[in-house]
Amino acid sequence: MKKSFPHISRIEGELTLPGDKSISHRALIFSALAKGNSEIKNLLNSEDINSTMGCLQKLGVRIEMKDNLVLVEGVGRKGFKKPENVLNCGNSGTTVRLLSGVLAVQNFTSVITGDDSLSQRPMQRIIDPLQKMGCIIKSKDGKLPLQFYPADKIEAIDYNLPLPSAQIKGAVLLTAIHIDDITIVIENNLHTRDHTERMLNLPVEELGDTKIIRASSEFYPEPDEYYIPGDISTAAFFIVLTLLSKNSQLSIKNVSLNKTRTVFLDLLIKMGAEIKIKIIDDSNSEPYGDIFVKSSDLKNIEIDPIIVPAIIDEIPILAIAGALAEGEFLISGAEELRIKESDRINSICSNLRAAGFSIAEFDDGFSIDGNINNDFNLFEGYGDHRIAMALSILSCLMEKGSEVNGIESINISSPYFLDQLESIKVQ
Ligand code: S3P
Repeated sequence: MKKSFPHISRIEGELTLPGDKSISHRALIFSALAKGNSEIKNLLNSEDINSTMGCLQKLGVRIEMKDNLVLVEGVGRKGFKKPENVLNCGNSGTTVRLLSGVLAVQNFTSVITGDDSLSQRPMQRIIDPLQKMGCIIKSKDGKLPLQFYPADKIEAIDYNLPLPSAQIKGAVLLTAIHIDDITIVIENNLHTRDHTERMLNLPVEELGDTKIIRASSEFYPEPDEYYIPGDISTAAFFIVLTLLSKNSQLSIKNVSLNKTRTVFLDLLIKMGAEIKIKIIDDSNSEPYGDIFVKSSDLKNIEIDPIIVPAIIDEIPILAIAGALAEGEFLISGAEELRIKESDRINSICSNLRAAGFSIAEFDDGFSIDGNINNDFNLFEGYGDHRIAMALSILSCLMEKGSEVNGIESINISSPYFLDQLESIKVQ
């Protein structure tokens, strides 16, 4: 479906965003594992979260919506029932990778699959560590569908994360909380989002640039009351729009301020962005607060590849900010972008090249220079929610606006994106 985005002359207002996607997946899974009733407030209502919910329901978990609350009747250790059908994760990489850590320890066989995009994404990265732990998983070429079989003995391991991926880390830690011995996961240099370890209260030791996480059955979740702060990765689109629109300002309320997720804010501030942050609560396992943004003149700066894992989901919208900022935007060390919901390096480069920018594309990144052709009028979303939203923002910033093809993909993470955009624009 094509959607037209006319030029927006000014942004003014306040937004409260639906719950963070990464935290929402985990709150559902941990609630399902715990024995008894958990309550989740401000859970994201989106296609990816529906995928996690649907799989958990097929595993026998009762989930009920009541006003703004989601009630989960958790089944307790090994309490899942064998699903009657294949578990379908749709487009959601987080669903398949986190749930694999749980399915791998059950006493029944199960099969997990996903849509065309997810079926092309690599799963060997989770199969390897789980097999090291003794889990029995079969797949063809490390891709979906995955088949899980009951294993005789599942053992704790010491695991050096070979790739900076919170999903791999999450899968190993979820298996680890089913084992009495202590599993150790080590992250070197490139730290990824830390929601799993935070929400499970796992002991984390930091030795210089190395992070050592310990997990065992002692940390199996109990029923809880979760509050999911607003999604900071969705906030990124509105933040960049406000920064690059003239005479504009925006407040974003109760949004996640987890430090492993706000690195893109630090980068924008270094580029000249006027952004103020007010922490409301950092006692909660997931800190949150308000962000205030004003129109700013942005200048590109060098981006250290070391921060890439911490800005991985924001790179599409950072590329738009960089394309319209002074100087050349350059990102490297971002080869993981090629295996997201689309090949995001190709999705960004081909759209921006078509819109008039000078683009150089590398295996692990790209550069953007030059100016936009304001007569360009149709971007391609490649079925990827973050690409579609980034291009919607670029369209709103173009003198004559533009259309975006495949806008329906925004429902993966942000079904309220268009309404929220409408609510803050001043024509
Ligand atoms: C996520 C981890 C990241 C991120 C994804 C959500 C998570 O993926 O890109 O959108 O919730 O754990 P990787 O762990 O593969 O980098």
